[in-house]
Amino acid sequence: MRCPLLLVPALSASTWAAPAFPKFTAALAPNVQAISDYFNILATKVQENRAAGPAPICDLSKLSLPIEAEPLGQPTPGLYLKHVAIGRGTQNYTCDLSNSTAVPQAFGALATLYNASCVTSAFPDVSAMLTRASLHFDIADNDALQRLAPADLPVSGIHYFTDGTTPFFGLDTPQWHLGEGTFGKNASTAAPLTAAKGKKGEAAVPWLRLAAKGTNTGGLQEVYRLETVGGSAPATCKGMPASFEIQYSTQYWFYASS
Ligand SMILES: *[C@@H]1O[C@H](CO)[C@@H](O)[C@H](O)[C@H]1NC(C)=O
Ligand SMILES: *[C@@H]1O[C@H](CO)[C@@H](O)[C@H](O)[C@H]1NC(C)=O
Ligand SMILES: *[C@@H]1O[C@H](CO)[C@@H](O)[C@H](O)[C@H]1NC(C)=O
Ligand SMILES: *[C@@H]1O[C@H](CO)[C@@H](O)[C@H](O)[C@H]1NC(C)=O
Repeated sequence: MRCPLLLVPALSASTWAAPAFPKFTAALAPNVQAISDYFNILATKVQENRAAGPAPICDLSKLSLPIEAEPLGQPTPGLYLKHVAIGRGTQNYTCDLSNSTAVPQAFGALATLYNASCVTSAFPDVSAMLTRASLHFDIADNDALQRLAPADLPVSGIHYFTDGTTPFFGLDTPQWHLGEGTFGKNASTAAPLTAAKGKKGEAAVPWLRLAAKGTNTGGLQEVYRLETVGGSAPATCKGMPASFEIQYSTQYWFYASS
């Protein structure tokens, strides 16, 4: 399948003029770096792509894990990369308010997944910048349009927890039927020092490798969480409520058996 510069719509005047499309606001000022980096790299790619002629091919089989993912190990031999999604949502935490020395405890997450297979296979660096930039656009605006701003990626699924330690990924939408199921943690490594911080300076959550817990549909066997942005809780519960959410964005790479 060809990737007909799905990037171009993000730059076209008509897209920006569309009434509902999220707009930059003054409140974004501290975060403009991530967004301007994204548009700068995008502009460069558009130029390069015009010069190169035909649209690049969206071929996930050529994509390998970023070097920083090495501590997580390579996917189990025989699996193939079926899908790459950008996840945009919140990590949930709880605090025991009766304990003055309590630290936040992870309590699930909720994210919408957007189809980034094509852009990631053709331009991994654009995809990484997009993951960073997307944190600075509102979840509610994405939900309303069913698109990931600022790139216009369509929804490919959802991610939430079925219990305290069981992440669920559903990749069955009217457009794509890629499977669904639950996973457990296989490996974890701290996000690189260069990882982008969250909206309020929160550290990036670790990179992860998850393995299927039960029998998943679509052959889904392993998921890598990479290129994380934000999502970490503060070090202590001081001044925090009993439950709270921290915004994050990330990439999820889904490996399946054929
Ligand atoms: C959506 O995901 C499927 C499966 O990974 C892929 O074949 C397709 O190219 C993707 N579409 C876009 C627009 O990325
Ligand atoms: C209070 O929180 C600290 C830090 O998590 C923990 O070590 C301690 O056991 C907690 N105390 C109670 C009474 O739960
Ligand atoms: C992670 O997955 C690999 C490959 O299947 C396996 O060898 C290893 O034991 C797993 N580690 C954990 C902690 O589950
Ligand atoms: C946490 O996540 C759930 C979805 O799993 C969501 O419905 C809930 O509102 C979130 N926030 C808090 C503060 O619990």
